[in-house]
Amino acid sequence: MSADLASTSVHQANPVAVISGGARGIGAATAERLVASGWRVALLDINGEGAQAEAARLGDQNLGLGCDVADQQAVKDVVDQIATHFGRVDAVIPAAGNITRAPAEEFDLAIWQKHLDIHLTGSLLLAQACHSLLAESKGSIVTFASVASTFGLPGRVAYGTVKTGMVGLTRTLAAEWGPHGIRVNAVAPGYVDTEMVRSGFRSGSINEDTVLSRTPLRRLATPEDIAGVIEFLVGPAASFITGVLLPVDGGLIIDGRFDAPSDGSGI
Ligand SMILES: NC(=O)c1ccc[n+]([C@@H]2O[C@H](COP(=O)([O-])OP(=O)(O)OC[C@H]3O[C@@H](n4cnc5c(N)ncnc54)[C@H](O)[C@@H]3O)[C@@H](O)[C@H]2O)c1
Repeated sequence: MSADLASTSVHQANPVAVISGGARGIGAATAERLVASGWRVALLDINGEGAQAEAARLGDQNLGLGCDVADQQAVKDVVDQIATHFGRVDAVIPAAGNITRAPAEEFDLAIWQKHLDIHLTGSLLLAQACHSLLAESKGSIVTFASVASTFGLPGRVAYGTVKTGMVGLTRTLAAEWGPHGIRVNAVAPGYVDTEMVRSGFRSGSINEDTVLSRTPLRRLATPEDIAGVIEFLVGPAASFITGVLLPVDGGLIIDGRFDAPSDGSGI
């Protein structure tokens, strides 16, 4: 093994991951998966109590902090705390997110702005605040795109816009920060069994049977399905992967059928 590869952060004992939106859903599942593999985690969430509880549940080597990822000063402050506490950051996983479903012609501008702030600005702010730590550790970032980065989802104009923008953010950071030794990739989940999707089923704005019949693997993703891919992307097996958008969607975006009966008979 070359000296360079041996010195990359993923070979360090107990590397550190900063995960926003870590109080629940995919962020929490990713934290659990990484901790099981020997990582330490700093969980950030606007739900500070939830982040603290989740971090404590995973062990007292972890940190849970309240933080609005759209607030530049708050993000700087928590990253300072993380740097003081752990002395290093090896991975940044900005999983904080929101979704509002409403017709585009009457979509509320304040809600539109909130999507831009949380998803795009929030991911950029966390990446910026951790840049020098990641450059030092030769670490990586995994952002959150979506199937909405590939096709238009009616009723989700803000969500589709930020998820498409996330591809630009990811590729730009990958190109710019690659020479600094920082890899930047995106996961693009399909429908994952979290509160974000369940809220859509409950309100009737998305139909579970339709989603399942439109997904070749005929199930929702579990948060753990996504967490496993994130662990791969921040780990040594992905050491030469940067700038990719990796679908984790059960085949949703490659199925070209117009309708897909759940018995699999549609061709
Ligand atoms: N669930 C899915 O099907 C799905 C599919 C594709 C992409 N994604 C993306 O994956 C990411 C995680 O989604 P999830 O399903 O786990 O969502 P979730 O709603 O279960 O969790 C989101 C977390 O983000 C936190 N959060 C919201 N606003 C915040 C803010 N301003 N600052 C800090 N924390 C904030 C929430 O408190 C919550 O804990 C999101 O970016 C989402 O868009 C989810």
